[in-house]
Amino acid sequence: MKLTKLSGALGAEITQTDLNILTSDGFTSLRDALFEHGVLAIRDQSLTPDAHIALAEHFGTIDINRFFTPVASHPNIAEVRTAPDMKRVIGGTWHTDHSYDPAPAMCSILAARVLPPYGGDTLFASMTVAYEGLSEGFKETLKSLKAVHSDSSFAQSNVGIDADDTAFRAPTVHPVVIAHPATGAPCLYVNGDFTTKFQGWTPEESAPLLAMLYAHATRPEYTCRIAWRPGSVAIWDNRLVQHFACADYAGHARLMHRITVEGERLPSYRAPS
Ligand code: SIN
Repeated sequence: MKLTKLSGALGAEITQTDLNILTSDGFTSLRDALFEHGVLAIRDQSLTPDAHIALAEHFGTIDINRFFTPVASHPNIAEVRTAPDMKRVIGGTWHTDHSYDPAPAMCSILAARVLPPYGGDTLFASMTVAYEGLSEGFKETLKSLKAVHSDSSFAQSNVGIDADDTAFRAPTVHPVVIAHPATGAPCLYVNGDFTTKFQGWTPEESAPLLAMLYAHATRPEYTCRIAWRPGSVAIWDNRLVQHFACADYAGHARLMHRITVEGERLPSYRAPS
């Protein structure tokens, strides 16, 4: 397996590996690379749906998304589909998958199935590098805060969402600065799609500080970009990164298959004393 960094902040491209025949040692190397780089672009695969499921199950239990359309033959894989006449795309704003759940998704694994002739890249931003880019005083303030996350934005979305009223759940609360459950690294954990306010603050009081954090967290120097090619598979750690699907291929179709893997409740970050 060959690994090449994608940017100074995060991301790595992986070649010379075959996800269809991943060994236990191969999986350990992949998971370690994921925790180090936040997102992996694995090139030149012919990942079958069954191998996609097997790869996800190496990481943990599959977390079936309750809002997305399932793949008919494999209902634990979600479709991320853009029809040529769609004006907006699924995931076309910066977000963290499943942050509205009490134990949010650990990682997501996206496999390219139909790609437009140009565009359709996915951008990623490192929430550890973004956190490190803040002043010590502001970090202290953020570490004392929690934020409310909700799936309510799906109620306004008409982009490829296949859910009825029973899909919606009560809002949940996470620390604004989490400790990554595997490495302990501090990660900023608020996102524009699902964070509604700081706990104990009104939405109006929360909005200016959240807007500042979203703008900060997605500064270009904290990002990398995956340009999809046939056979590409991306894996990202939802605690370490946010992502954004670029809607710049109007008139063309795009189809991706996504699996998310269950995570755990997110602890607050406490700096070592
Ligand atoms: C998503 O938000 O999971 C979709 C990303 C993409 O389609 O590039």
